[in-house]
Amino acid sequence: MHDETIAIHGGYDPDGTRAVAVPIYQTVAHDFVDAAHAGSVFDLEVPGFHYNRINNPTNAVLEARLAALEHGTAALSVASGAAAVSYSVLNLAAAGSNLVSTPQLYGATYTYFAHVLPSFGVEVRFAADDRAESIAACIDQRTAGVFCESVGNPAGNVVDLQAVSEVAHDRGVPLIVDNTVPTPLLCKPVDHGADVVVHSLTKFVGGHGTTTGGALVDAGRFPWSEHPERFPMYNLAEPAFHGVRFATDFPEAPYAVRARSIALRNTGATLSPFNAFLVLQGLETLSVRLARHESNARAVAEWLAGDPRVAWVGYVGFPDHPSHELARRYLGGRAPSILTFGPKGGYEAAIRFFDGVELFKRLVNLGDAKSLVAHPASTTHRQLRPEDHARAGVTPDMIRLSVGLEHVEDLIADLDRALSR
Ligand SMILES: Cc1ncc(COP(=O)(O)O)c(C=O)c1O
Repeated sequence: MHDETIAIHGGYDPDGTRAVAVPIYQTVAHDFVDAAHAGSVFDLEVPGFHYNRINNPTNAVLEARLAALEHGTAALSVASGAAAVSYSVLNLAAAGSNLVSTPQLYGATYTYFAHVLPSFGVEVRFAADDRAESIAACIDQRTAGVFCESVGNPAGNVVDLQAVSEVAHDRGVPLIVDNTVPTPLLCKPVDHGADVVVHSLTKFVGGHGTTTGGALVDAGRFPWSEHPERFPMYNLAEPAFHGVRFATDFPEAPYAVRARSIALRNTGATLSPFNAFLVLQGLETLSVRLARHESNARAVAEWLAGDPRVAWVGYVGFPDHPSHELARRYLGGRAPSILTFGPKGGYEAAIRFFDGVELFKRLVNLGDAKSLVAHPASTTHRQLRPEDHARAGVTPDMIRLSVGLEHVEDLIADLDRALSR
């Protein structure tokens, strides 16, 4: 089936009720048939649900749908994109190992990598930039994973996923890709070598600014058992889960099974079934929303680029954008509706513009039906040191727009008014 169809029907097999919409299973636990059944569910020998922290039938539909859209073998839904990022690393790193990352990251991811993971003994090495050569230079025997955002937020850089996955795989290391900004409808990192895909479902997938959620998708093909020393957690008997060996006991999706059994089960960033239901509603209309997001964003970018009050515009749909060629290759020539620009007059002008909008909402989300404006230097990236701002692709004058679904003339009128200030 095509993506548009999977986004509406994927992963849902109506039970006896023949309900057309995916039901919300608002239950904490499921009744076992008997002790033998309970034991085999706990041992993961038979598929089944037991306790909502770990799995839930509504969430399972969302997980199957996301896995299908991302060309993975299994997915895990979690409470937020930040939880997904966190679990994606905890699921393969341990004290003494390191993670190599591109520097252009969402602010909280950058902070987590720069300050939180190191406090638990996981070193994070930020490559000088997002090129495969720069990433290769940081990988060593203790590297547990390479991390990047397919399209950096807010920098807008498109990563050469094929080249990055090749340098990672040549060194026996899996590639984790945060695919939040393009969504699986614009980019499928697994087709370009990614081993794990991470999502904040809070953004375009949910799409209405109502629901926080996240997910991990396992491509199901990283050869964990070829690297027993680097990944003992996949190859040795797991003490936290009655001695299973994830690489060999769950060959279809060892990473996703481990993330559920170890990270989610023990630390509990569970997506509520109601939120899974809301994300499923968003997913159903994602393809049509993205088309409108895209055409509105292009019109806004073109208008800004032609306005004398604007110093620069960063929009990957423009041929002179440094990532334009990579966008043709990895986003099918399409452009996400996130764009950045700097009003003439630097930081002060950016603040005046930010304060001046009336229709655009001043906030730090993206991918909502509503148009949103953010000033990363004073919000999402505020905790970063000035030198880290530059590495993360944030400048003091940078305004980030997430262009929504309103009539584009109303959006441009609002931008015009705010720029006049
Ligand atoms: C690229 C990216 N990854 C992860 C996150 C974190 O997601 P959440 O806010 O759902 O925790 C965000 C949030 O903006 C993001 O933009």
